Amino acid sequence: MGKDVIIACDFNSAEETFAFLDKFTGKKPFVKIGMELFYAEGPAIVREIKKRGHKIFLDLKLHDIPNTVMKSMKVLSNLDVDMVNLHAAGTIAMMEAALKGLTREDGTRPMLIAVTQLTSTDEERMQKELYINRSLEETVMHYAENAKTAGLDGVVCSPLEAEKVHGVCGNGFVTVTPGIRFADGDKGDQVRITTPARAKEIGSDYIVVGRPITQAADPVAAYERCVEEFIG
Ligand code: C5P
Repeated sequence: MGKDVIIACDFNSAEETFAFLDKFTGKKPFVKIGMELFYAEGPAIVREIKKRGHKIFLDLKLHDIPNTVMKSMKVLSNLDVDMVNLHAAGTIAMMEAALKGLTREDGTRPMLIAVTQLTSTDEERMQKELYINRSLEETVMHYAENAKTAGLDGVVCSPLEAEKVHGVCGNGFVTVTPGIRFADGDKGDQVRITTPARAKEIGSDYIVVGRPITQAADPVAAYERCVEEFIG
């Protein structure tokens, strides 16, 4: 499993996305297509970015009844992406259904990972608003174990939780971690954050970086700084 930096392409048009990707001459970073871009441009943007030679994490965070998720994952498996995700809160049955839907007839499938708790959520909100009467860490670990039980490949979690997730689910269980900020950067709406260098120490497998790269004066330099800190 390769450690990598995934750029969150949180743009609302193909034009803006390609203007951004065109800056990376000769390089093909792993990119994340989230709801904003997918809802704006549809599956065509996925095919186009794939054609340009990028690996793709399709971050649509599915969460619905098992049958709906299974059928939706079946459709997504036709897009040649490398990673897709869902909310672990949808239950083990939903995650199992997702895996079934995603698996192609020849047995191949994109990696499937589960969101545990969003990195914008803190413990107080989780307990007060979601009525989850456990610590944030216990909740994340429990959701990770559920994802493993369902046969998923890993979880999206805070980089601060990556080591514990590996402890509970094994080192082969992939941790994909957003909430990455440079030590001298802006935090934005993220709460459970750390730097690329620290994410490496804690053992993240993939870091997902959005605004610190997309909003940088020099996005390519910011990407390279991430790669340098995280992979070395
Ligand atoms: O701009 P920033 O680096 O905060 O972007 C992080 C990206 O990771 C966003 O696209 C966000 O939707 C995504 N994400 C997250 N927390 C999760 C799952 C996905 O921040 N738990």
